[in-house]
Amino acid sequence: MDLFEKLNSRPGPLGEFTSAGYGYYTFPKLEGPIGPDMKFNGKDVVVWSVNDYLGIASNPEVTKVDKEAAAEYGFSIPMGARLMTGNSDDHEALERELAEFSHKPAALLLNYGYQGIMSVIHSLVDRNDFLIYDELSHACIVDGKQLAICETAVFKHNDMDSLEKQLQRATSRLKPNSSILVITEGVFGMTGDLGKLKEIVALKEKYSFRLLVDDAHGCGTLGHDGSGAGTELGVQDGIDIYFGTFAKAFALIGAYVATEPNVVEFLKANVRSQIFAKSLPRALVISARKRLELIRKHPEWREQLWKNTNALRDGLRELGYNVLPSESPVTPVLTQGSTDLCTTIMRVLREDHGVFVSGVTYPVVPKGMVLIRLIPTAAHRDHHIEKTLKAFAAIHDMVSAESAKLSA
Ligand SMILES: Cc1ncc(COP(=O)(O)O)c(C=O)c1O
Repeated sequence: MDLFEKLNSRPGPLGEFTSAGYGYYTFPKLEGPIGPDMKFNGKDVVVWSVNDYLGIASNPEVTKVDKEAAAEYGFSIPMGARLMTGNSDDHEALERELAEFSHKPAALLLNYGYQGIMSVIHSLVDRNDFLIYDELSHACIVDGKQLAICETAVFKHNDMDSLEKQLQRATSRLKPNSSILVITEGVFGMTGDLGKLKEIVALKEKYSFRLLVDDAHGCGTLGHDGSGAGTELGVQDGIDIYFGTFAKAFALIGAYVATEPNVVEFLKANVRSQIFAKSLPRALVISARKRLELIRKHPEWREQLWKNTNALRDGLRELGYNVLPSESPVTPVLTQGSTDLCTTIMRVLREDHGVFVSGVTYPVVPKGMVLIRLIPTAAHRDHHIEKTLKAFAAIHDMVSAESAKLSA
């Protein structure tokens, strides 16, 4: 069979929505400066779908540095991979600053989070090792596991008995040159709950393993200094490899791991997605340095983020919505319903109320459920929250009628 023909019968997890909903439910174009007020299809909307948690994307100090760095270096410099010709003083300075920020002795920049962590996982383990990861891990961890040539096992989401069973199983089969790597997330991005980092770190008393934490959503938003879920939970020291990305609170591209110097040295020479790929443009790295400086300097942004998060959640709960008990700013509203309900909620909120939210259905959540995920930021103001709560009040009867139909 012709390969391209065969692809027609493999529509992907979103099915017909990938193309039928193109430009609206999938691949929508939000326009204007990043912030709570943007344009969608020419209309003004209040946006709850971008991970610019601290409202840093449109910060004037940041945009000034962006312009100056782009004027000085353009977007090509440096060319090549870091290892060959793609290094600069700014890349190295940012690594030192990220290490300090993460309370680790060393850090390594990654040119994209997804490829970076996938490839870090791949490089860390060999055929004698065991990799054990949380079942709700992000796709990049699952793909990293696919690349890894070691034995892999999954533990039930945040279930320490399940993790311990896997640790016992792996430990009983260790050869002299075998090691165990456990991977979880700081914040689970769809539901907003935190990884059980304290409990996992405590298991190190009983079992010998190293812990890698993907803290994409926690980095910049959690902990008194923004250094993430490990600091928030008081166990940053117990995380052996901390992964953060610039794709959320930094509102940029790029990522990093922070760990021990010898591990960074190993990764520099072994992470294939970095060795065989162009490094981040210097202008972007300069911008990341500025963003990091501001994230560290402005704890009040995190306070505002939490104020907005709590106001939004309290309001939604008062209206009768089921807001999942998220421990991070991620605000998930779960209801029973079909894919049709999901698209109707998004469409009615966007068209009739000027409120832009994103929703997901199966396979991201169980069949018959709809999850609307709102991302509050420090840049939202009371009027954005009020407008949004009014909109959710207006659709409440429609949403509960649909749920009632399904549970009847
Ligand atoms: C938990 C998690 N890990 C990794 C990534 C990938 O990071 P990046 O967007 O920097 O490639 C994401 C998404 O951005 C994420 O949500």
